[in-house]
Amino acid sequence: MMNHALIEILADGLFHSGEDMGSSLGISRAAIWKQLQKLEAMNIPLHSVKGKGYRLPEAVELLKLDALQDHGFPSDKFATSNIELSLDSTNNRMMSVAETNISDRHIVLAEMQTAGRGRRGRQWLSPFARNLYFSVLWPFSQGIAAIQGLSLAVGLAIQRSLKEQGVPGVGLKWPNDILVNGGHADGAKLGGILIELTGDMSDACQVVIGVGLNLDIQPKDLAQIDQQAVGVKQLGGQLSRNAMAANIVSHLCEVLEQFSSEGFAPLQQEWNDNDAFRGKKVRLILPSSEIQGICAGVNEKGELQLQTDEGLKAFNAGEVSLRVVAEGEG
Ligand code: ATP
Ligand code: BTN
Repeated sequence: MMNHALIEILADGLFHSGEDMGSSLGISRAAIWKQLQKLEAMNIPLHSVKGKGYRLPEAVELLKLDALQDHGFPSDKFATSNIELSLDSTNNRMMSVAETNISDRHIVLAEMQTAGRGRRGRQWLSPFARNLYFSVLWPFSQGIAAIQGLSLAVGLAIQRSLKEQGVPGVGLKWPNDILVNGGHADGAKLGGILIELTGDMSDACQVVIGVGLNLDIQPKDLAQIDQQAVGVKQLGGQLSRNAMAANIVSHLCEVLEQFSSEGFAPLQQEWNDNDAFRGKKVRLILPSSEIQGICAGVNEKGELQLQTDEGLKAFNAGEVSLRVVAEGEG
């Protein structure tokens, strides 16, 4: 695709004139200009300086299918594996693929999202070619009941992958966050998981599993995120985006296959071993109330257990938020 060819020239972060790009691609300057306008319409951050040409603000490693495959990306597990320069949300793309594809698995990765989403419609900041944003469409034949604990299983797959790649100190926060402790009471958010469902909730349903993982979070990003956030690079990792994506998706497929047949129970112990909030005093914010307790890990269904004044209680992942209680508070 012409867009991809042009962005590959610009990926070095250096200035390229319309004329040079035109001759590299064998098209006219006017045609290049049209393509550049398309990139700008996708919100890809292009700088243009008169007399010098166009450039991206920095050099980037673009995602490419052959590079992913070189690093072990499991293309054979999916009916389609697509990479897009810009999408509103990779979850939206997979939800629309789900309308016509009932029994196949699909994956889409995007270099940026213009409307990346967290839970409850919150925004997921998704700048161009610095982090990972992808969604997997995965059919489950046993209905909605069988997917309890799925977001925990997905978190574990990401944690395993990061650990294997030498990223230190990665923990899991119930029910859908990947975090790093580093000094902040609630930890700094490294990634998040957004699971959405479609199909028949009592029979065969399809699940869209969206993963956002920060590889390089810069000060200008932090200004737009209303909580602590961090990227793999900031933790000292210098990793290839293609290598990282391939490794994460491999671990994800392995965990999803096990989860599909055996559910969450076999993963319970490992999840608890990586629980960033284990033993901490927390408050759980429910839709119309709040409860305090000590985090006591998850049970075999993946429900959060809190040791409260009234004994051990278990909670479903739903419209709830978990926060550490600061010293002297509560
Ligand atoms: P909860 O405990 O309720 O899940 P949350 O605040 O983590 O709380 P989510 O909906 O899971 O909420 O995630 C969305 C939130 O994540 C946003 O409101 C924002 O604070 C934060 N956020 C957005 N983009 C990023 C990003 N790229 N990296 C880290 N955090 C982000
Ligand atoms: C959260 O912490 O609330 C979940 C964040 C999930 C973000 C990912 S990025 C890829 C996929 N597409 C989206 O719009 N959201 C998820």
